[in-house]
Amino acid sequence: MIRYSKVLGTGGYLPAEIRTNAQISETVDTSDSWIFERTGIKNRHIAAPHESAASMAETAARQALEAANCDPSDIDLIIVATGTPEYVYPSTACLLQQRLGIKNAAAFDVQAACSGSIYALSIADQFIKSGGSKKALIIGTEICSRIVDWTDRGTCILFGDGAGAVLLGASDEAGVLSTHIHSDGEYENLLYCRNPQTTTAETQDDAGFINMRGNEVFKVAVNTLGRIVDETLEANNMAKEDIDWLVPHQANIRIIMATAKKLKMSMDQVVVTLENQGNTSSASVLLAFNEAVRDGRIKRGQVVLLEAFGAGFTWGSALIKY
Ligand code: UT7
Repeated sequence: MIRYSKVLGTGGYLPAEIRTNAQISETVDTSDSWIFERTGIKNRHIAAPHESAASMAETAARQALEAANCDPSDIDLIIVATGTPEYVYPSTACLLQQRLGIKNAAAFDVQAACSGSIYALSIADQFIKSGGSKKALIIGTEICSRIVDWTDRGTCILFGDGAGAVLLGASDEAGVLSTHIHSDGEYENLLYCRNPQTTTAETQDDAGFINMRGNEVFKVAVNTLGRIVDETLEANNMAKEDIDWLVPHQANIRIIMATAKKLKMSMDQVVVTLENQGNTSSASVLLAFNEAVRDGRIKRGQVVLLEAFGAGFTWGSALIKY
């Protein structure tokens, strides 16, 4: 019998503080109109000093558990995607496990930058299909605001904080149809954030902050996401018209529109949270998915394409029958 992993519940969390384009324009040479026209972003959420990747993950996770009417003790696998963990170790997944009072589960983090939640989803799907897990919690959680150089107008306009969650469970009914993950380590220099404590002496200068050659990243992202859409459709023997919703990584509205165009999808079928959240890295796809599930746009039985692209480079997709 084929076993699937199925989405049982979703959750999300956004910190209370909102930082507008106008506020950013007070500290770097930019403007609300430049940011909105070139990126589609107007606002982003900024975590409070007491918040952490784990605290935000907890709120998102509890929402997903509640939506699925699932007791934390039923969870046997926790995978957290984050590029902004509070600790080198223990993992954010273990911190979350403690916060949720879960005793018997495997918990670990994955690092795949903005594609992290797709990587986590893919790993959890393999575990469930092979019988290694029955209920898996997948989280993307990021405090990008703490690794952004707020004097760099090329990056500080883009990023925001938040956490998204999905609870997957074993099912005989179709759920996750396929996942596809890839990486190419050749592109280290186009997008990176060095760890200031562990990097070499020669590379201390820009350590601790996001460094990005935005325009070059942009071009690779558009081409790569076009290819992963083809790969996903082919693997499932599906046509573009079979997809009901596109839930893309929220990096730039122009990248999102290029992927929608490739799929011949109207923007009405694309979930966009970018305007008020910016790029929340590994949290963005799950936050967008959660939003569209909760507001009733994504309905049970519909086919949803999730995709992401990020540092590494890493990229991936998940095709889900919700
Ligand atoms: O999530 C991981 C993946 N990340 C991405 O996918 C991000 C991809 N990149 C982007 O979203 C875009 O490249 C940016 C939004 C970062 C930049 O937009 P762009 O259209 O690629 O601009 P650009 O870097 O080619 O710069 C064009 C001009 C430059 O001025 P000159 O040289 O033409 O005089 C920049 O200095 O815009 C200038 N510029 C700005 N001007 C006002 C760059 N940033 C800003 C700014 N405000 N914030």
